[in-house]
Amino acid sequence: MIDSLIQVMTIDEKVGQLVLYTPRGHDSLSGPALSPEQEQLIRQGGVGGIFNLWGAHATRAAQKIAVEQSRLKIPLLFGLDVIHGYRTIFPIPLAEAGSWDTALVERDARVAAAEAAASGVNWTFAPMVDIARDPRWGRIAEGSGEDPLLGSLMAAARVRGFQGEDPARETSIAACAKHFAAYGGAEGGRDYNTVDMSERTLREVYLPPYRAAVDAGALTVMSSFNEIGGVPSTGNHALLTGILRNEWGFRGFVVSDWTAVTEMIAHGVAGDTAEAAALAFNAGTDQDMESGAYRFFLSRLVREGKVSAARLDEGVRRILRVKYALGLFDDPCRHISGDRERSTLLSPDHIAGARDAGRKSIVLLKNGRGVLPLSKNLRSIAVIGPLADDRTDPLGPWDGLGRPEDVVTLVEGIRSALPPSTRILYAKGCALDDADRSGIAPALEAAKSADAVVLAVGESREMSGEAASRSTLDLPGIQNSLVEAVAGAGKPVVLVLMNGRPLSIAWAEAHIPAILETWFLGVQTGNAVADVLFGDYNPSGKLPVTLPRTVGQVPYYYNHKNTGRPPVDTTKYTSRYIDLPSSPLFPFGFGLSYTTFEYGDMTVSPGAIDSAGTVTVGIRVKNTGARTGEEVVQLYVRQDAGSVTRPVRELKGFLRVTLAPGESRRVEFSLPGRDLTIYDAAMRRVVEPGTFTVYIGTNSRDVTEGRFSVKKR
Ligand code: BGC
Repeated sequence: MIDSLIQVMTIDEKVGQLVLYTPRGHDSLSGPALSPEQEQLIRQGGVGGIFNLWGAHATRAAQKIAVEQSRLKIPLLFGLDVIHGYRTIFPIPLAEAGSWDTALVERDARVAAAEAAASGVNWTFAPMVDIARDPRWGRIAEGSGEDPLLGSLMAAARVRGFQGEDPARETSIAACAKHFAAYGGAEGGRDYNTVDMSERTLREVYLPPYRAAVDAGALTVMSSFNEIGGVPSTGNHALLTGILRNEWGFRGFVVSDWTAVTEMIAHGVAGDTAEAAALAFNAGTDQDMESGAYRFFLSRLVREGKVSAARLDEGVRRILRVKYALGLFDDPCRHISGDRERSTLLSPDHIAGARDAGRKSIVLLKNGRGVLPLSKNLRSIAVIGPLADDRTDPLGPWDGLGRPEDVVTLVEGIRSALPPSTRILYAKGCALDDADRSGIAPALEAAKSADAVVLAVGESREMSGEAASRSTLDLPGIQNSLVEAVAGAGKPVVLVLMNGRPLSIAWAEAHIPAILETWFLGVQTGNAVADVLFGDYNPSGKLPVTLPRTVGQVPYYYNHKNTGRPPVDTTKYTSRYIDLPSSPLFPFGFGLSYTTFEYGDMTVSPGAIDSAGTVTVGIRVKNTGARTGEEVVQLYVRQDAGSVTRPVRELKGFLRVTLAPGESRRVEFSLPGRDLTIYDAAMRRVVEPGTFTVYIGTNSRDVTEGRFSVKKR
């Protein structure tokens, strides 16, 4: 069917499918709207998809133009950045990765898809699966952190969630794995900056999550803005055709990032727009987002023979295949439903899911003197800080159709968790990012007159996401002064961090007894945090990124190499900084619970395998505290010696156990030899014989170790 359609298309109609535009018009009631010129372009078969248009009414009207008034009646795609929710905003992806719970992440993506689909959006520009090792990069908030395995599992879960069992279902939307590739490797953490890395690092660390998304069936992939080693991704044939198509067998289409095609002129690999169009399209970028390069130049390039007719047909075929997979040829409006839109957006179930996701994403970083959980019998509690009663920032970057009025603030969440008799003293203390100190004294007064203090500090949502790199990881503005002042009140203080990236909080870590990392938790922020504060939920989140001590340690990631002179803080000629400890503030995988877990002796059997064998690694984990708790037990491996250097630790698996007080359970991992595959010195995929150290622990630092070996086959 697709091929017979392609046969009757004119060159211009074919090019039309390769073009994606954002609305140029505006409707005072519904927001973005098509301009009359855009409607005309759709009638002429000149547009393959529209993005940033939503709402059952607006999308249905646009779809009708395409399928009733254009010659070939080819339906449109409607794209939108549905990153962590459509109207029901869930925790940012970095936060959700901290749940280490793929079922939860899949469920939330499913909800986002159902809401978006009802509103006519049939394609999301998500999941963002870029590995990020540099927290200065604002887009670290949109991904799943620094680890390739965790990132891959989250990527696949999100694709499954968005697309469901069948993308043609009315509640499914097409996923788009982005930004291909290695966008997170930007030098200095500066957005859009140059990426230059070895092929080994690219393949072992950065590529796996995209691969996982493709293997999970992602229908589309977005090319990234950056270059890698001199070649911008959007014009990178080796990447878009060699790896993505030929190695991985990807059959969907590649969309460029926003104007990334014409940005190749600034990159310096194309002299003009026509050259940029030819370069991008021939490399494998099938659809042009916003730049206009394909619209205005591709027909001519085909006529001049600079782009082959076969390549043109292939690009069109890929796009039509996705429309077909979405069921749009059967019923172009199958997803769109005003009724479902009314009943599904922000439904009670969805809100309950956001609360559940919120509390499972929270990481308890510190709980000195057992300050947490707080008692519900306090006479008074001071809730202080610029984020304590903020209903905008908790939505985080890329908040879809999220609205501030949907957000439960921290003050509100605490209010509803406590009996009416508890006095709540709210004081803002200071703004997120200015120098006005006048609020600090009243905040200190509030702290002094309360039984306990909850202090919410962090970042604004504009400080992370796209084009939001920071040169420091410090709390912005004078928030540190507020923290220092409140710490001096002599009351039990709980620091609640809301932020889109790891922050350097060394002072707070040394002086504040209890710290919760909550990232940006979305619409149910206040309730989710209150659930943890008062012990209605026992936290189980684990950091999906390393928290460095200061920005000077960056990039700092747990799966680093050992070097020839591994750091010894007391020894000069070792690989370290002379002015701070070599360890991070909190390691990857770290997260406490209100109970304690004890790890027993580890068993590794058999002691030797060949590459086709499997090692079983087991350990007994016991809940030694007084509450039921969940622990994410983590498995790491290190190849002791090989043909190339290997990371000091690599995550190979994790399992979640729920244990009642006093209960213990044996946790067992199967580690197949193929999971030890590496790229050897000649870049061949091999499992090398030798010894391996295997670690099980509560995070990437606190582990028990054992050993096994791999024999030659
Ligand atoms: C971002 C993408 C996003 C696109 C469309 C770009 O600026 O880099 O992540 O999907 O805009 O909104």
